[in-house]
Amino acid sequence: MKVVVIGGTGLIGSKLVVELRERGHEAAPAAPNTGVNSLTGEGLEDVLEGATVVVDVSNSPSFADEPVMEFFRTSTSNVLQAEDAAGVRHHVGISIVGTERLPDNAYFAAKIAQEELIKASGIPYSLVHATQFFEFVGPTADEATWDDGKVHIAFYRQADPLTFAHVLVHESVHGFVHRFRAPPSLPSWVNEGLAETIASELVPRAARANETTNRARASLQQYSGMGGMLDARQISPWQYPVAETLCAFMIRQNKRNYVDFVVGIKEGLTWEESLEQRYKAPRDRLVRAYGESINLHGLKE
Ligand SMILES: NC(=O)c1ccc[n+]([C@@H]2O[C@H](COP(=O)([O-])OP(=O)(O)OC[C@H]3O[C@@H](n4cnc5c(N)ncnc54)[C@H](OP(=O)(O)O)[C@@H]3O)[C@@H](O)[C@H]2O)c1
Repeated sequence: MKVVVIGGTGLIGSKLVVELRERGHEAAPAAPNTGVNSLTGEGLEDVLEGATVVVDVSNSPSFADEPVMEFFRTSTSNVLQAEDAAGVRHHVGISIVGTERLPDNAYFAAKIAQEELIKASGIPYSLVHATQFFEFVGPTADEATWDDGKVHIAFYRQADPLTFAHVLVHESVHGFVHRFRAPPSLPSWVNEGLAETIASELVPRAARANETTNRARASLQQYSGMGGMLDARQISPWQYPVAETLCAFMIRQNKRNYVDFVVGIKEGLTWEESLEQRYKAPRDRLVRAYGESINLHGLKE
């Protein structure tokens, strides 16, 4: 299969080209020094001829606010248009974990714009949200090295240190669950609900349980239901307390069943099949029973 790697000479792109070739694919690196410029469109038509998949791991030469937005908008539009004309069957884009949570950052805003273009293109796509590559550790440490030779790293911890502890546990749970009998991945509502429940359990804060339930109930009332949460690829911020209280409810019903429910998904069942097997309940019954548990009668999805 011919796979064109836009940005195939860069940090991630060059590794990808090697991997693809090792797996027997025809990998074509496309970048200015192989004669392809996604900003001007130069060379795109030729390189895409006969390509089945395009992986776009190009990057803007400038990270300044306007140029970076201009790069991802123009380059992505050109690539997608050329893919459409060439009959490419799948587009793979790379983005960053949490782009949607930091839209004030110019680079993230540009990546969000890129993601939107890909979603609207009509070409089947996959979007990979990666964390920082390890190769960034060196430059990051260099930038944070002061005249005294020490590396000073600052992070925003928020006023309450327990909030930071909560986040640490939450993210660690994701790491564990991701690797536990990996893959497949859990649906977002299970993944986030479990991470929140364990973080609340390990970093106990007075009144948090009540607050979470109140926030979940208020949101469910405001949005007249769960807002499609059970099928969402990534749940919205307002749905986190709902996912947490739903997870806590399922665990309260039967801890062993919850473990088996997660294992069932990891072994390849859909979450609904796993729910049916472990809890003997279809999704609407789960939603109704959960609603009752937080005094919301007749809750619907
Ligand atoms: N680095 C991270 O930690 C990280 C984390 C998550 C996601 N990502 C994403 O991963 C992608 C790749 O990052 P990277 O660190 O591998 O980037 P990189 O090393 O800077 O490589 C960028 C690639 O894009 C090519 N390129 C630049 N301008 C181009 C143009 N006009 N037309 C075609 N190709 C062009 C470069 O070609 P030349 O070498 O010829 O200039 C190079 O091959 C980015 O979209 C980034 O947002 C990165």
